[in-house]
Amino acid sequence: MDTAAQTRVLDEPVYQYSTLTAADQLELLTKVVSSGALGAIGGDHVREFERQAAAHLGRHDAVATASATAALELLLRCLPPHEPPERVVIPEICWISVPTAVLRSGRTPVIAPATSDLTPHWEQIEPLLDERTTVVILAHLRGRPAPDTQRITDELAQRGVTLIEDCAQGWGTTLDKQPVGGRGVAAVFSTETHKLVATGEGGIIATDDSQLLDALRAVGGNTRIALPENAGGRGNDRMSEITAASALPQLTYLNALRQTLRPLQDKLIDLLQDVPEVRSVLPTAIGKSPNLDAEESNGSLVGVWLPTPGHANRVADHLFRLGVRHWWPGPGDPHLAMNWPGTPSTASLVDMACYLDIQVPVLDESRHPAFLDLIRSALRLDNHGSESA
Ligand SMILES: Cc1ncc(COP(=O)(O)O)c(C=O)c1O
Repeated sequence: MDTAAQTRVLDEPVYQYSTLTAADQLELLTKVVSSGALGAIGGDHVREFERQAAAHLGRHDAVATASATAALELLLRCLPPHEPPERVVIPEICWISVPTAVLRSGRTPVIAPATSDLTPHWEQIEPLLDERTTVVILAHLRGRPAPDTQRITDELAQRGVTLIEDCAQGWGTTLDKQPVGGRGVAAVFSTETHKLVATGEGGIIATDDSQLLDALRAVGGNTRIALPENAGGRGNDRMSEITAASALPQLTYLNALRQTLRPLQDKLIDLLQDVPEVRSVLPTAIGKSPNLDAEESNGSLVGVWLPTPGHANRVADHLFRLGVRHWWPGPGDPHLAMNWPGTPSTASLVDMACYLDIQVPVLDESRHPAFLDLIRSALRLDNHGSESA
């Protein structure tokens, strides 16, 4: 493919999905800014975002926060304390602030190794549980559900261990056709720049537990709600009205965005699963494996396992040169436990340096073949050049 043609294709894709609702966001933002009602207390938009997010997730209610990290820290502060020392099982792949949140709550993180779908299954979590384990955090990553969530939920419920779903990356993702975030005691979502609801920074906690909701609001800074007994004081973790005004149109658009992304995601899956060097593709094509099915993903990414870190590094380099958004967890990546200071190491089951995922852009259907050509060329798997690992 010639360079001019490549440039034309790359001029058109929309990777920052939040721009698709820019006009609606600006209308709401103008309203908020003009009204001067900027505070979460007294404003309408934060409350509306909380209500709409809870309804979308099938949860009783939600509390909007400054980030998913703030949400997780607040949630851990508000869970009933147990006899110390408490241990919290967290996944090997999530984000560096997750172990920090656990440590700041006075608990000790224990790392559950990831499988090839990037999440731990019950088999990885069970051996880590003991009488000191009070919480397990499970993350739904890369716009896909953690496939063993139901089993993990059931087993933990039997043992009286609290499950928190880290859905920071999970907007628009489903499991058994229901949005992720409906199984744990609480679920945390992020609205950071790269998420499907993107406000720069922001987060939300969804739960069915009314007492916990009151505690989250009070401890998180709502001075109109009495602090619960034994609360360690009142902080400020709140989302602003401006942030909520930016989030609302994106939440409304979420299902349509998913439907827009899915056709190109399907084509990318088809292309990648026919590439000899690609060992496996995530999500899987429709009907191949129930919980990793493309239908359950939010449509935004396709991941591949490649034979060696060198191969993945080279493909990532090609994608970078072509301007195709992707994630390759190379050295020092803050998503990986091996790069978290102060957390115990774990024996990994997979070498994440062999994984990379490609972001699905919003792109006119007439441009899909050209985009797929670009990906083929990045993998150097077309007829004109092949590169071995
Ligand atoms: C899995 C996971 N958990 C938690 C977070 C923290 O989210 P935030 O940036 O909103 O604090 C992230 C951020 O990307 C994440 O990917």
